[in-house]
Parts: sequence; C-alpha cells; structure tokens
Amino acid sequence: MIANNHATLVQQDERQLHPMYHPSRAENAVMVEKGDGVWLYTTDGRKILDSMASLWNVNIGYGNRELAQVAYEQMLDIAYSSGFAGMTNPPSAQLAAKLAGFFRPNMNFTNFTSGGSESSDTSFKTARFYWYQLGKVKKTKIISRLIGYHGMTLAATSATGMSKFHTMFGGVLDGFVHVANPNAYRYEGELRDGETIAQAAARALEEAILREGPETVAAFISEPIQGAGGVMIADDGYFDLVQAICKKYEVLFIADEVICGFGRTGNWFGCDAFDINPDIMQFAKGVTSGYMPLGGIQVTDEIRDVINSAPEDQSWMHGYTYSGHATSCAVAIANIDIIERDGLLENSRVMGERLLNGLEALVAEFPNIDNARGLGLMAGIDVVKSKESREADADTAEKISGAALEMGLRARPIGGAIAFAPPLCITADEVDFVVNTMGDAITQASG
Ligand SMILES: Cc1ncc(COP(=O)(O)O)c(C=O)c1O
Repeated sequence: MIANNHATLVQQDERQLHPMYHPSRAENAVMVEKGDGVWLYTTDGRKILDSMASLWNVNIGYGNRELAQVAYEQMLDIAYSSGFAGMTNPPSAQLAAKLAGFFRPNMNFTNFTSGGSESSDTSFKTARFYWYQLGKVKKTKIISRLIGYHGMTLAATSATGMSKFHTMFGGVLDGFVHVANPNAYRYEGELRDGETIAQAAARALEEAILREGPETVAAFISEPIQGAGGVMIADDGYFDLVQAICKKYEVLFIADEVICGFGRTGNWFGCDAFDINPDIMQFAKGVTSGYMPLGGIQVTDEIRDVINSAPEDQSWMHGYTYSGHATSCAVAIANIDIIERDGLLENSRVMGERLLNGLEALVAEFPNIDNARGLGLMAGIDVVKSKESREADADTAEKISGAALEMGLRARPIGGAIAFAPPLCITADEVDFVVNTMGDAITQASG
C-alpha cells in the first residue's frame, strides 16, 4: 500500500536526502500534491501562492493539461530512446530545428542535457574542446562571478561563486577562477577615481584574465541576472565592457540562461535585455516549465564548424543518457508554443512592473526593506538592519518568509534578500496578493 496521508508521507520523506540537506530543515515539509496556475495545494490542506514558480522554472504555471497530454502521447509512441551511436528521435530533431536561430541568428546548433548543471559542464567542455581544436590547448580555465550560481555537479559547483558550496566538498577544482560582480562594488568594493561600478566590475574580469594569463583562459560564464545569488541586476554598460574584454583576450562568453531563459525577464532570454551576444548559451528550467527535466547548450556557427571539422579520433566525446530525451523534447516544443500563444512574455513584463511597484511601496513603508529590483517576473528585495547601514538581515528575511508561508505565500529568502519569480501566468489580483501578504508578513516578523 502506498501511503497518502500527510503524517505518514512526512515520516517517509525523512528517508530522503534532499538538496541542500540539513535535518533541521526537514521539519514542516511542504508536501505538495497538486498545483493549478500559481497555486500549490498540500497534503495537509494548505493553499499556497508559489511566488518562486518552484525553482524559478514553472513558467507556464502548474497543472497544465496540454503538456500532460503531449507527454502521454509521446510516451505511448516512444518515451525515450538514446541519442548515442547514430540513434535519434523525432521530438529532439524537431526541438533542435525549432531552437535553431531562436535565440540568436548565428546559433543554430543545440546539444540537449537533463538540466542546468549538466549544461554548465557541457559549456565548459565545449569551450575547452574549441580551443583544443584551434591548437590553443592551454586555454582551459573558466572564470565566473562571485555570487553566481551555475549548478551542483563538480565543475558547475566550482564555477558557482559561493564558498558555502565548496568548503565541505574539497574546494574548487583547479582551473576555476572567481571575480567580483558589480554588486560587490556597490556595497564594499573600491572604486577608482571617476570609475563607475560597471567599469570596476569589468576591470575585475580583465585583471583576472591578465593574472591567469589570457593563453590559459577558455571562457567566462555569467547569468544575465544573478538568480540564486539574490536577484542581482548588473549596472548599465557592464555587459558591453565584459563582452569587449572577452573578445580582446579570446575568451569565450558563456551566457547562463537557466533561470532567465524562456520568458522570465519579459524577454525570451535575459541576454536580450542587455544586448549580450554570447559564444555559448545554456538553458534548462523554463524550456519545459519543469514538466519534464531538460537542459541544453547552443553554440555559434563558428563553434559548430570547429566541432564539425574535428578529426574523428578527436570527436566531441560528450553526452548523457538522457540527451535529447523524446518526452522532454516533445514537452519543450509544446511549452514554448504555449508561452508564445498565451502572451506570457507580455504578461511577464506587465505583471513584473506591477510587482516591482508593489515591492517599491514596501521599501517606502518599512525601514528594514530596501533595494526593490526586478526585470519581468524576476524580482527581489533586501531585508536590512537599517537603510543607512544596508547591512543584510538574513534572520529577519527567514522570519518574514516563514510568516508569509503561514499566510499562504511562498517567497524565497536568499541570505538577506527575498526573491520573487512566480509563474508567468500570474494575474493582477495574484500579484496584489503577493505584495499585500508580504506587507503583513514583514509587519509580523519585524515587530
Ligand atoms: C543560473 C543557473 N545555472 C544552472 C543551474 C543548475 O541547474 P540544475 O539545478 O537544473 O542542475 C541553476 C539552478 O538553479 C541556475 O539557477
């Protein structure tokens, strides 16, 4: 007998080593059994507005029957068959064709993975492969940004710029280097005379490339907006400078669109908002709205030509069992069609503005809430000890999120920040519920 009552399920769940595990966090598990739009329903009868779209990824919202139907029909035909050794399947071919030129006209070649971390590893290995084929065999290092998040495989963890993910696991792999992001200069970094924050952060990258030796650096990876780092939006001009530096030193630019991609920022991709034209683009999450696991990378035609002209004994020896998973790819095609058909980019922009206005009102109302920021439906606020000190108050952020959850709203604390990334189908009333409930939760938790 499979148990389905709340108490038994919670007990059974204790056998699970959850992501970012500590036993202290296993209590009060939110056992989700159903979803509809932006709402989650739990086995203990709660109804919660998920203003994080789970992990920034359920872009079209919960409970979509069209995707269920597509998955069902695809599974009846062929749920999965390998992409290795000359085998392939219609949905992966169709999705590769759909994505050709979809992000950038000069990116027409996609490799599929099962998620974001695998996509990071795939990007890094592809950058190394590219330079190897061009005879620049020492170009292997990967530079990433502090507070950046790129996943949890060993290489992706090493690129992730947060020491809490490194210390207990043997540190960062050789060949991974971190540089400051613009946010570091806003709060604590040293600006040179007349230098803007964007220039200082770009200088940090240039100095790192020169310190390591440009002949050893394969790629720089960056999210268009740092998500798991607390929704950090780079200053105007930063990405122009960074792209120029990468070109100057022959360093490939990898854009990590795992969160920003597929409508989150009100654009198809986060890069669109910052005029970023990367050499490699990686995606996951929103490509299927989480209905099936899928990720991937796209490369420029130039990189594709290098891959295609490699000698056979130096093939691009990389791939995963689930690369080009038929059901995942079929779901992705339907998901992208729904984003387009239902005008979810437009809704992300309009509702994002409403959300940001609401968050700005909270900043005006509460002395311990600061720095409302956002683009589309990706937003954040800081919980601070005071607006003067801007010192982060992670404890209160945690308390506020806990109080919000009691009131039926899931908002994610990230250190001293609280992030918002609801499904892109959110309505005006639901946005107002988010803002009003946050107001009540801040009042309750800060008192
Ligand atoms: C920007 C970014 N890259 C990569 C990843 C890793 O993706 P996954 O958890 O699917 O491996 C994440 C996950 O949150 C992410 O936010």
